[in-house]
Formats: sequence, C-alpha cells, structure tokens
Amino acid sequence: EKIEFNSKNYEKIEFIYGIAIKEIKHKLEILKEEYKMFYDYDLIDHISERIKSKESISKKMTKKGIDFTYSKMIENINDIAGVRVICPLKKDIYTIRKLITNLPGIKILKEKDYITNPKKSGYSSYHMILEVPVTLSKNSVYVKVEVQIRTMAMDFWASLEHKMKYKNNKDASKNVSKELVQCAKIVNKLDNKMLLLNS
Ligand code: GTP
Ligand code: MG
Repeated sequence: EKIEFNSKNYEKIEFIYGIAIKEIKHKLEILKEEYKMFYDYDLIDHISERIKSKESISKKMTKKGIDFTYSKMIENINDIAGVRVICPLKKDIYTIRKLITNLPGIKILKEKDYITNPKKSGYSSYHMILEVPVTLSKNSVYVKVEVQIRTMAMDFWASLEHKMKYKNNKDASKNVSKELVQCAKIVNKLDNKMLLLNS
C-alpha cells in the first residue's frame, strides 16, 4: 500500500509520525514488562524516541538531491520517526530484533546489522526500518519508523562520538577518528566479556 497522508500541512504529517512512534514504543514497553514479570529478566534498559526536525529533513533532502515535496519526503526519508532501544547485553539485541519481527501488523522494510559489520567510524548497532500501521478515523496508513537497537556500551560510544564529531564541525581530526575506532573496539570487547560473565 502506498503511504498517503493526504496532507499538505507539515504539522499534520508530523502528528502521524508521532502516533507511529507511540504505537511501536508501546509494544516495546509491553515486551520489556513481560520479560521482567515472567522471566525476571531486564531485556530492555530503556527506549528513547525523536522526530527529525524540519531543518534536518530539508538538509538531508538537499544532500540527497530530492525534490521538496511532502510525498517525496515520505517516500525517501526513512528516519523521520526514530526509536532507540537500549539493552544490557549483545544477545538481547537479537532477541529484540526477533520480537519486533514477530509483531503482528508490523512490516520490516530494511535491516542493517552494524553489529556483525560495524561502520568505518566504529559505529555498531542494529538498524531496522519498520512500517507501522496507524489507524485513523477514516483511513489507515503505514508509517516508516527507524529503530536502532544497541547495548548500553554501544550507546555510550555513539553518543560521545556524535558529540565529538558535531563539535568538530562533523570533521573530527584524523587522529580523533582513529582513537574513536579504537574505543569502539574496546566497547566491543567489553560487550563480549559481559556476555560471557552473564551466561
Ligand atoms: P543516513 O542518511 O545518515 O540516515 O544514512 P543511512 O540511511 O545509510 O543510515 P545508516 O544506517 O547509515 O545510519 C542512520 C543513523 O544511524 C544515523 O542517523 C545515526 O543515528 C546512526 N549512525 C550511523 N552511523 C553513525 C556513526 O558513525 N556514529 C554515530 N554516532 N551514529 C551513527
Ligand atoms: Mg539518520
């Protein structure tokens, strides 16, 4: 089905993305509580969310050479709605991934495993682009949501790295980048060790 929000009003489009975030976040929170209640296990540490600002969306569209129309935006920008799931252990990432895959009604559009294949920067996380059904009074639409699943250690690395690159005008010195790749490797070792200690 084609996503058609029937709106020329950005606030209304943003509102629908907001509902999609609420829907998926609610499902994830239920899974978190279920694991705690039935298995006495902390599968998810916490969940965060954000809607991409109009400014970042237009910046990205310019960079990608996409025409400025709402339909092009909805079609091409996959991370307008973003949800981040932070878990204690590396293996939890794959459990969460599987649970999301099994959620009824949710479609998986794309997956990227930066755990098995970290990015050049050292960045590690599991990414999923979902299509979440949003039911309104007169119609139902599928809304794309980017989900990033990562451990607390990976999140620690990613937030500091982001700040450092941002501060340095996104052009951190070669040396800092190198050191950050080293840090990512240490983070990975830490995650692997924690996994062993916990099993
Ligand atoms: P974008 O156009 O940037 O969204 O790239 P993409 O569509 O190829 O997505 P990708 O999977 O590369 O990454 C999307 C998101 O992952 C970014 O918006 C960041 O939140 C996060 N991310 C990717 N690479 C890095 C990185 O090197 N460092 C940090 N801190 N975050 C990253
Ligand atoms: Mg992004």
